[in-house]
Amino acid sequence: MDTSRPGKSRRPDYRARQMKDSESTTDLRTALSRFASGVTVITTVTGGRELDIHGMTANSFTSVSLNPPLVLVSISINAITHKRILESGRYGISVLERRQPEICHHFSGSTRKSEKIDFVWRDGIAFVSGALAHLACTVWDSFRVEDHTLHVGEVTHFWYQNGTPLLFFSGTLSTDTPKPVLPGMHATPTSFVEP
Ligand SMILES: Cc1cc2nc3c(=O)[nH]c(=O)nc-3n(C[C@H](O)[C@H](O)[C@H](O)COP(=O)(O)O)c2cc1C
Repeated sequence: MDTSRPGKSRRPDYRARQMKDSESTTDLRTALSRFASGVTVITTVTGGRELDIHGMTANSFTSVSLNPPLVLVSISINAITHKRILESGRYGISVLERRQPEICHHFSGSTRKSEKIDFVWRDGIAFVSGALAHLACTVWDSFRVEDHTLHVGEVTHFWYQNGTPLLFFSGTLSTDTPKPVLPGMHATPTSFVEP
């Protein structure tokens, strides 16, 4: 086993913080951003005759259980999507493909550019067309945790295709193809673009 310290030029340079004030909360966000994720758009449909599609960008998506098939998204209680999910009891997850950064911006409200979104209807839910995967979910339970709600959904139908994901790391989107990580190598993210 190689117990030698990392090379001199790569000495770890950690920033340490104790949680105590709003400044450390900002720093905690930075620490949490070191966890790379994919990007999803959560959609939900409300209304009677006039159907209203609402969606938001989220990267808090995670799988919870295979049997039963449960997933969850953590959504701010201030997000319109949160209220709409409570109303409809259902939501869809579209896992974005690498050529969809504009879709990410559109659904996070970080652009003024109006984007025409192509939706595909499946199982009564509107999904983002061209996404890598679509998961149709019925709310299984919702847990309020301080300023967010964990909406656990039971997957009723799903669809997927092959392709390259849009990635989110350190507050930026990556449209690069992830390189395979070979034994003894570290994957270095490159070409990140501001969201
Ligand atoms: C990459 C990315 C990931 C995000 N993930 C989440 C998330 O997991 N949960 C959340 O509440 N907001 C998340 N947001 C912020 C929401 O997309 C944003 O607040 C949105 O405007 C909420 O829309 P709504 O109020 O119309 O529902 C994320 C934003 C970005 C850019």
